Amino acid sequence: MSSESIIDRLPKCELHLHIEGTLEPELKFVLAKRNGLQLPYDTVEDIRAAYQFSDLTSFLVGYYDGMEVLRTEQDFYDLAWAYLEKATSQGVLYAEIFFDPQAHTSRGVPFDIVIRGIRRAQLDGERQLGIQTGLIMCFLRDFQAEYAMATLLESLPYRKWIIGVGLDSDERGNPPSKFARVFSRARQEGYLLTMHCDVDQENSVEHIRQCIEDIGVDRIDHGTNVVSSPELIDELKRRGIGLTCCPISNSWVSDGTKSAVIKSLLDQGVKVTVNSDDPAYFGGYIAENLAAVQAELGLTAQDLVTLQRNAIDISWAPPEVKHSFR
Ligand code: HPA
Ligand code: ZN
Repeated sequence: MSSESIIDRLPKCELHLHIEGTLEPELKFVLAKRNGLQLPYDTVEDIRAAYQFSDLTSFLVGYYDGMEVLRTEQDFYDLAWAYLEKATSQGVLYAEIFFDPQAHTSRGVPFDIVIRGIRRAQLDGERQLGIQTGLIMCFLRDFQAEYAMATLLESLPYRKWIIGVGLDSDERGNPPSKFARVFSRARQEGYLLTMHCDVDQENSVEHIRQCIEDIGVDRIDHGTNVVSSPELIDELKRRGIGLTCCPISNSWVSDGTKSAVIKSLLDQGVKVTVNSDDPAYFGGYIAENLAAVQAELGLTAQDLVTLQRNAIDISWAPPEVKHSFR
């Protein structure tokens, strides 16, 4: 069987996916029209042509600008529903979905509107498409820790709808330690913990160390720079902390997919996984990300299976969902 068809046929588990990063240009136009907004582009192609990111910061500018069209509960529903349909078409059986409430509350869209729209799509996805999902609330690390704490408290009435918390956005000058109190409180509230340590960021290895030793995360998003620290690799393995890597995203914000690093970590026994991050911006959902790694490295069928096994192992899925992959 060719690797292409293995990728097509593999039951998939996606662990690193920003729902706002699935906002395709076509849907941007629909939502802009519905909300009476004028986009500064005439066509879908114009929007795609404007995606010229060279690093994380330049990507984030376009990512937040794009969210302006998300206003109503129905908008968030439509956004999440479109992702669930796409994921299902690629054989995703289970996905953990990040959302960035502060990217919306900071521009006047209430938390409640955001989460209710996404939640309704998750329930419809389960019923109508058979895809299971979990929701992870990310704090924006370039805002103050106090705002993250206020967001954490605001989430508590919806505690049952959220499985964990994460940390994303601009990493420069915003280390994990800035959010130590917020994550400690989140842990007390029963949330599982993950944080982005984006590829090739300043102080990346120190950020990874803080995540593991000071914050006590359950998982790390990206985290591939750990490859330069044998001690931290051992620590990841000892604690069973997995990495959610995103090859196509890496190629936009750094120099290449880091496929060789992903393979090296896989061979060293780290629980690495392959995911899509912000597919509408970077141009690849999970199948294209697996294919990108496959094309560069010629992964064996066994490697591809191991990547998906790792994903389900380090996922925060309930036991019955984990069993459905066996
Ligand atoms: N890194 C940091 N913040 C983000 C990302 C990312 O890859 N995607 C959306 N917000
Ligand atoms: Zn991400």
